[in-house]
Amino acid sequence: MTRPAYAERVPEFDFTRLRRAPDVEAPNLQAWDATDELLVREALATGIHGDEIAVIGDDYGAITLALTDAGMRGIRVHQDLVTGRRALARNAAALGTGGFESRELDESLLAGIRLVLLQLPKSLAELDEVADAIARWAPPDAVLLAGGRVKHMSLGQNDVLGRYFAEVQPQRAERKSRLLVARAPRRPEGAPPFPVSTAHAGLTLCAFGGAFAGDRIDIGTRVLLGQLPAIPDREVVIDLGCGTGALAAAYAMRHPASRVIATDRSAAAVRSARATMAANGLENVTVTLDDAGSELPAGAADLILLNPPFHLGNTVDEAAGQRLIAAAARLTRPGGEVWTVFNSHLDHRRVLQREVGPTEQAERTPKFIVTKSTRR
Ligand SMILES: C[S@@+](CC[C@H](N)C(=O)[O-])C[C@H]1O[C@@H](n2cnc3c(N)ncnc32)[C@H](O)[C@@H]1O
Repeated sequence: MTRPAYAERVPEFDFTRLRRAPDVEAPNLQAWDATDELLVREALATGIHGDEIAVIGDDYGAITLALTDAGMRGIRVHQDLVTGRRALARNAAALGTGGFESRELDESLLAGIRLVLLQLPKSLAELDEVADAIARWAPPDAVLLAGGRVKHMSLGQNDVLGRYFAEVQPQRAERKSRLLVARAPRRPEGAPPFPVSTAHAGLTLCAFGGAFAGDRIDIGTRVLLGQLPAIPDREVVIDLGCGTGALAAAYAMRHPASRVIATDRSAAAVRSARATMAANGLENVTVTLDDAGSELPAGAADLILLNPPFHLGNTVDEAAGQRLIAAAARLTRPGGEVWTVFNSHLDHRRVLQREVGPTEQAERTPKFIVTKSTRR
């Protein structure tokens, strides 16, 4: 077999051309990292063709687009976040390139694949779900190259991979990134490990691997749930950044005549929230995959429930939360209300006051504040 030309190439791709948009952009945030470069170089060195490669966790498309730039075609890519999917599409259009197919984390992503390139996810639960999918659907000779920044890696990741692959070898770190090479997948028996579910007082929460807080109720969420009796009964309600759907489900149960829209940018969150609504028999909740409710019209909501994110990837940053506050302002009709919970050290009250309208404190615990903002 002749080796394709790209097998000899080191990546010459200009990663600086990539953008994170529509995700938050800032001078200290870039659209790729040294792990992407390492994964691309190793993938090129294998000589495996693009249509036998799956890329998982490619934040803004850096891995996929560097490989298509090297001439590969037919790469399958899975990104959990719709912001990442949109960034990949925009970056591909800006570069005038194609050569990849977006897939969900299922058999269509992994059947017939010989090489999987993975940016290690933050949570072990998400890694568990991804490793199960690879071992379940990829062929027995498939190899996984899983990479991350050394400071974010843990032995727990090796343990998770060790449950699904007979061989897991850490490589030497390079430029503060490291690859784990996993071979000989062990085909899992029985059903996939996710969704998991737990019954809390009156509410069953379901979670796929990548969903915020898993099937637990996060402490901030709990504080906002405590305010439910004070939150008014309204016709159209949006749970913005719904995660597993705890807020939407609890509100919808209490107000069966309301129409609740639960929306999140994470596909794992959306699948989880749909499972949560089904588990609680709720038919008045619609769950959508979207970036900050961008597909909903301005003024669509009478009421918004908001527990905004406070981490941006691994960088603590208020910008992600502020982006959802700005979206809440756009989505609420004049006179409508936005109920928000956030860590008390964050400056969100000022931002809510500026973006949404008059904001008052409804509750304060040692760690969290709940505010009610009225749309001006
Ligand atoms: C702190 S969690 C809250 C989840 C859920 N509402 C709860 O209280 O358990 C924040 C959620 O916002 C989502 N999120 C972050 N940025 C978003 C965006 N631009 N558009 C939609 N959802 C977003 C995250 O995926 C995450 O599920």
